[in-house]
Amino acid sequence: MPRATLVLGISFGLSILMVTAWASARGRPSESPQSTESASLDPAHKQATGQLSSLETQRRKRALAALCAAVKTNAGYCQEWLSSEDFESVLKTTAGISLLTDLLKAESDDDQWQLAVEKLRQETDELVKTARKANKAQSNLHLEKIQQHADTLAKISPAFNVTPKYASRNDIRRVMNLLNGTYADAKRALLFSEVEIAQREAFVLWKVGKYLESQRAQGAREEAWAALATAFSSASLHAAEMPSPGEEKLQLALKAAHTQCENCHNREQPAGSPGLSQPNRLTFPVR
Ligand code: HEC
Repeated sequence: MPRATLVLGISFGLSILMVTAWASARGRPSESPQSTESASLDPAHKQATGQLSSLETQRRKRALAALCAAVKTNAGYCQEWLSSEDFESVLKTTAGISLLTDLLKAESDDDQWQLAVEKLRQETDELVKTARKANKAQSNLHLEKIQQHADTLAKISPAFNVTPKYASRNDIRRVMNLLNGTYADAKRALLFSEVEIAQREAFVLWKVGKYLESQRAQGAREEAWAALATAFSSASLHAAEMPSPGEEKLQLALKAAHTQCENCHNREQPAGSPGLSQPNRLTFPVR
C-alpha cells in the first residue's frame, strides 16, 4: 500500500473512531419504541434551520403515503356501504376520511399541497351532504373523486416545512372509529401475510396517535392523557418502522400498540361509554 494511502487510511479511521465515541457519549438511539421517535431530535428546531434528518423525512414520506392510501381504503368501504344503502355507516366512515384529511393538511404548507388537500376536503364535505340525503348515485360520484384526489396527493412530494399541528376538537368518537378501523385493517393485512400493508396501517395509527397527543384533556389529567397517547403513538411507530419484521414479529408489535389502546381505555373511560368495561373516569379531549 502506498504510504500516502496508509496515512490517509489511518487518519480516516481515527476520525471515525472519534465521531463514534462522540456519538455514543451523547447517547445513541436504542431500539426501544420510545427512543425511536426521539431519534428525530426536535424536528421543530431542525425545520427552522432547514435540516430535517433523513430519518425524519423518510418517516414523514411513508406516513404521508400511508394516509393517502387510508383515504382510498376508507372510500372503498364507503362504496361497499353504499351498495347496501347503509348511509349511516357511510357517514361514520366519511368522518374518518375527514380526520385523515386534517392529518394530511397539517403535513406541509406548500401551496400545491394545500390546494390538493382542499379539493379532497370539499369532496368529503359534499359526500356528507349527499349521504345525509341518502343519494346513492351522487355519493358514489363523490367517492370516485375522493379516490382521485387521494391519488393526486400521493403523487405530490411536498416540502416538510412545518411541524404538524392540530386544532383541538371535541371529536373523540371520530378518532376512535378511525383507530378501530385502521387497527382492524392492519390485522387483516397480516392475516393475508401483507406485512407491508400492515406496516402502512401502523403509520396511520402513529399519525392518529400524534393527533390524540395534541388534544387537550381536562385539567389535572392533561399530563396523564398526553402520556397515554404518546405511549400509543410510540408503540405504533415502532411497529410501522421495524425493518423487514416478518409476520410474527409485526403481530407482536401491533399487539403491543393495542395494549396501549387498552391502557388508555382502562384509565380514561367516560361515564356510559358503550363497549368498554373499565371504571368510569371522565376525561377526554375538550376544547
Ligand atoms: C389516549 C387515549 C386513547 C387511546 C390511545 C385509544 N383510545 Fe379508544 N377511546 C378513548 C376514549 C377516551 C374513549 C371514549 C370516548 C367516548 O365514549 O366519548 C375511547 C373509545 C373508544 C371506542 C368506542 C367508541 C364509541 O363510539 O363509543 C373504540 C372502539 C376505541 N376507543 C378503540 C380504540 C382503539 C382500537 C385504539 C388503539 C388502536 C384506541 N381506541 C386507543 C381513548 C383512547
